[in-house]
This record gives sequence, C-alpha cells and structure tokens, in this order.
Amino acid sequence: MSGLEVRIYLLDPRWLSLHLHDGRGCFLAMKFSHAHILSCVLSEFNREKRKVRPGQCLRILDTGCGLGGLIADGLSVLGDHFIDCDIEIYGFEVQEHGAGREQYLDDLKQALYLRFPNIDWTDRIRVASSSDDWPFESGFFDLTISNQVLEHVHDLEGFFVQQRRVLKGGGIAIHHFPTAESLVDPHSGVPFAHWSKSDCGRGQILRLFSSCGIGKYGSYSDRRGYSVEEFVEEFVDYLRRFTAFRSLKAVESLSRGAGFATFARYNRELVKRWCDDSDEVWPYSGKGDEAWFARVLSRFASVTLVCEK
Ligand SMILES: C[S@@+](CC[C@H](N)C(=O)[O-])C[C@H]1O[C@@H](n2cnc3c(N)ncnc32)[C@H](O)[C@@H]1O
Repeated sequence: MSGLEVRIYLLDPRWLSLHLHDGRGCFLAMKFSHAHILSCVLSEFNREKRKVRPGQCLRILDTGCGLGGLIADGLSVLGDHFIDCDIEIYGFEVQEHGAGREQYLDDLKQALYLRFPNIDWTDRIRVASSSDDWPFESGFFDLTISNQVLEHVHDLEGFFVQQRRVLKGGGIAIHHFPTAESLVDPHSGVPFAHWSKSDCGRGQILRLFSSCGIGKYGSYSDRRGYSVEEFVEEFVDYLRRFTAFRSLKAVESLSRGAGFATFARYNRELVKRWCDDSDEVWPYSGKGDEAWFARVLSRFASVTLVCEK
C-alpha cells in the first residue's frame, strides 16, 4: 500500500474521525461518524415498533450525501445485518454546493459504481436546487440520514418540511451535526471562527489562531502551499456562503415545528465509542439520553438528533 496517510484532527469536533487513506483518496477504514450513524440506524430498527419484517424493502435517503461514503458503508453494513430484506439507499445533493460542478457528480457516481456496479446510481443520486422540493415522491422513505449537513442548510424550516414529505408515516430521520455551541469550527478547525457574524470578525479570529498554528492551516499550507492570508480568505468566504450554524435548541424547535417528535439520542453511546476507540457497527443498547448530555457534548463534538414522523 503506497502513500498511507493517517490524520487525526485535534480541536475538531470530528477529531476522532481517523482517516486512513491509500494515498488516492480511498477510505480504508470506516469513519467514526459513519459507524455511529449506522449504529443509530440499527438501534432504531431494533425497536419493537419499528422491527424490519422479512421481505421488507427498507428505503433510505442520505441527504447531503457528499461523495457517497455513508451510502457505500450503509449498503455494506445494513445489507449484512438485515439479510432478509432489500436495502435501497438513495442520495440527495443540492446544486448550490459541490454538486453544482459536473465533475463532482461524476466522481460521486463513479465511486459508487466501483463498489456496487449493479445499482443504477444515475437514478439513486439526485440533485436539486436547495429552494426546490426534494426530487422524490411523497412517503417514499422509511428513513433519512445526514452527516455534517444541518449546519450547512440555510432554509432549515423548508428542509424539515421536505423531510416530512418524503418520509412514510412512522418514518424517522437521524442527523449528526455540529451546532452553534461548538467551541471549534469543524471546517477550519479554528476555535470560535463560526461565532462571528461579520467577515471582518471571522477573518481576525482565523488569522489569530492560524498564525499560532491552531486549526487546519498547517495541513493547507503543507498540502496546498497556502499562506495564512489565503487560508483566512478561503474560510471567511466558506463560512459566510456555506454555513448556517444554529443552536441545538433552535434545530430541535424547527424540527418540532415541522411536526416531528424530536429527541437527542445516542450521544452517550458516541462518547463510549470514542473511549473504546471503535469503528465497529452495532445496535446501541441505550434507549436514548437526557437532553442535557447532548447540550454538554455539543460544545465539543457533533450531536445526534432523531426526528420521528
Ligand atoms: C460537509 S458536507 C458533508 C457531506 C457528507 N454528508 C459527508 O459526511 O461527507 C455538507 C453537505 O451538505 C450539503 N447541503 C448543503 N445544503 C443542503 C441542503 N439544503 N439540502 C441538502 N444538502 C445540503 C452540501 O452539498 C454538502 O455536500
């Protein structure tokens, strides 16, 4: 194996996402966040009221699917677990972000075709404008999932309305995302950079911490030859255009406003997973956790929210 690269992002809410690359961008190990989300999925479908029946087709949507890593991991893991039923995972992306670039979509589908050549990814991966309805019929999905997406959604009210529309009655959504309470902006790795409302404020914070070697500036400098100013400029722009951080309470309130019973769940299990240093997928035994635990965790890491229709 050539060019093995191991990176651990300290001061990043995804710091325990240990990325093992083969030097060509292929993940060799499952991301912690994927293992966690898939464990949440198993836990929810282990509940008595939601038990999967033999022969059932479980339809899942990965909203904001990025480059499809969670879709691929989900197909492998859930296919092994629910052997008596069909697992169909779809992906949705919005044009305003990366998927607006043709190459991005080609790369996404290509990566999925390599691992699952018999699936029609042209149908499974769909793109729309973030102001349009999601390109799926109503009541199509049993489950929607998302990883590191809610903090990018400007119209979260509309997002939850669409989520409710595409879910079947009794369907659920599982979201894993950083909130405004987070001490560190997970994108730049810089503390407080996402707290400022102005470009000037963001720039000053990014410049200060990056000059002290805190955050992701070092890796941008090594890998892309960025100067501090180039790094600051890129993330000032990124944070303004592509992020919309909200408090956990605000996200819960928008979800409830759209008609979902909403619970912060499996957050203790995530911390236990870190302590065990495990990227295995298993159904969590906990039935959920106190809201206060998620609030404390949200300062340091992404939290997990379950929305029940
Ligand atoms: C940080 S990336 C995460 C990608 C992927 N889920 C992952 O874990 O690698 C955030 C994603 O959210 C998507 N996104 C932003 N706004 C969205 C919206 N309104 N609806 C759905 N996805 C959105 C972006 O296109 C982007 O792919």
